[in-house]
Amino acid sequence: MAETIFITGVSCGLGHGLAKVYLEQGATVYGCSRRAPEELIAQGLLFQKIDLADAERGQPELAKWLSGVPQFDTVILNAAKLGEIRDMQATPLSDLRETMEINVWANKWLLDTLFAEERPVQQVVAISSGASLSGSRGWNGYSLSKGALNMLIQLYAGEQPQTHFTSLAPGLVDTAMQDYLTTLPADERFKPLAILKAAKGTEQMPDGESCARRLIGAFSELRQRASGSYADIRKL
Ligand SMILES: NC(=O)c1ccc[n+]([C@@H]2O[C@H](COP(=O)([O-])OP(=O)(O)OC[C@H]3O[C@@H](n4cnc5c(N)ncnc54)[C@H](OP(=O)(O)O)[C@@H]3O)[C@@H](O)[C@H]2O)c1
Repeated sequence: MAETIFITGVSCGLGHGLAKVYLEQGATVYGCSRRAPEELIAQGLLFQKIDLADAERGQPELAKWLSGVPQFDTVILNAAKLGEIRDMQATPLSDLRETMEINVWANKWLLDTLFAEERPVQQVVAISSGASLSGSRGWNGYSLSKGALNMLIQLYAGEQPQTHFTSLAPGLVDTAMQDYLTTLPADERFKPLAILKAAKGTEQMPDGESCARRLIGAFSELRQRASGSYADIRKL
């Protein structure tokens, strides 16, 4: 039977690649973002426009859209905001709040809605980042939010023993996030920038679709690990 998949952030980058690969495999794919990926919709993507920064509107929209969907094989919490690379002190609280809203709290209401109606979910993969552990100077709200995401996933794993959870760092992916990072001026304060600039255009930074194929290929292996744990695709 065809798998049923749910992916956030399908309009571009890694999420677009994940949706494309699953559609090619014949899966039923539900995807959301603010912008609509018209070519994926033409290929059968079941799309709903949702702003993950707006829980009050987003959660009821999501619940209505998914009402009656009996189960999900795989849920991929992929959408995220990077924000500007700058010091914590230079980052407005409003910006940090928005980053936490999209990268952490939206995943809380997404999971609550997905598990509503006693809907079974086999596996949840939250796309994390090496930044969740590294805390490099300049990565401010992004690092904070990805660290909190890892813990959110561990907490849900304790509550939902019938579902397998992982926070998965996808490695470097050549997407809009990296277009922003690799075109910033060199800055001694923000050390990873030099590494990212060197990796851009090499096999160290595959495009969203290539990375998606690699991640999907590793999802069954993830299930051998403890539910709720963090993994890095580069170390599997
Ligand atoms: N690129 C990398 O090197 C890298 C490295 C480590 C981890 N990651 C992680 O990989 C995942 C995908 O990143 P990416 O590089 O593909 O990023 P991206 O190209 O910037 O795409 C981000 C996706 O998230 C969606 N999104 C952002 N804000 C949203 C909002 N408020 N509501 C709904 N959707 C929203 C965007 O859709 P709309 O703008 O249309 O809403 C877009 O589809 C993220 O979790 C990121 O942290 C990426």
